[in-house]
Amino acid sequence: MKLLAGNSNRPLAEAIAAYLRIDMTRATVHRFADMEVFVEIHENVRGEDMFIVQSTSYPANDNLMELLVCIDALRRSSARRITAVIPYFGYARQDRKPGPRTPISAKLVSNLITEAGANRVLTMELHAGQIQGFFDIPVDNLYSTPLLAPDIASSLGTEDLMIVSPDVGGVTRARGLAKRLDAPLAIIDKRRERAGVSEVMHVIGDCNGKHCVLVDDIVDSGGTLCNAADALLESGARSVQAYVTHGVLSGGAVARVAASSLDKLVITDSIRPTEGVRVTDKIRVLSVASLIGEAISRISSETSVSSLWD
Ligand code: R5P
Repeated sequence: MKLLAGNSNRPLAEAIAAYLRIDMTRATVHRFADMEVFVEIHENVRGEDMFIVQSTSYPANDNLMELLVCIDALRRSSARRITAVIPYFGYARQDRKPGPRTPISAKLVSNLITEAGANRVLTMELHAGQIQGFFDIPVDNLYSTPLLAPDIASSLGTEDLMIVSPDVGGVTRARGLAKRLDAPLAIIDKRRERAGVSEVMHVIGDCNGKHCVLVDDIVDSGGTLCNAADALLESGARSVQAYVTHGVLSGGAVARVAASSLDKLVITDSIRPTEGVRVTDKIRVLSVASLIGEAISRISSETSVSSLWD
């Protein structure tokens, strides 16, 4: 197998390569003066099982285009199989029509990746599992539970622990983690008054005296988590932490989290952490390198990927 990386998260790609004990494929992914993406692969990849690591995180459109151009370069270089490794799949939240005359952009992005020449996709904690069905090629959607559950157990213990879904859409994800930790589950009934603004309505479940752990796929503005933390504390929670796979953290989100009533936010490096994230005591980053590296190894050797979280 060979591993190639776009520019979105080179430290993660290098950590995956280290896990797999292989060198990164020599390539340059750079820009013309007008910002067009140009890719050049500096070694033979004919007949190779190629994995290209690229999150379609901020700047989402540039990173998506890099991914597409890299796939095209590999296809035209006669790679045997091309797997797009997309730790964070941007556009996933646009997985349905929220109103008349709106797009389903997650489907469009899936089409683009397939048309560019990817033979399969490896991603993590998709916003909605059914996005797998937007592709007509195999998609492995890794769950972060095997990474998050042991961290929660070791940093918080399991006594008086309560797993909380910050909205109804995340109940399946939170239930999986609660089951693994043998902890009860609570749900926050969140209503959004308008796009980008979240409002917590009420907590379903008895959080009194509990160490609450909010679990979500994405933290973007931080509004969902910060409001949920306040609601849990008002309901009698003893402490509130959050475990979120994808730290999008746009705009003033890091400052918002730092000033919130959350004790800690734990994210992963599926999106490259910014300097602001790295210096904030309140945010801790877990690496997904070994999880993704192991999945790549299993895909390459045609062994089970799902047994990673069984
Ligand atoms: C929504 O369905 C997602 O799972 C996240 O809860 C949401 O994207 C978080 O966004 P924000 O941090 O802006 O509230």
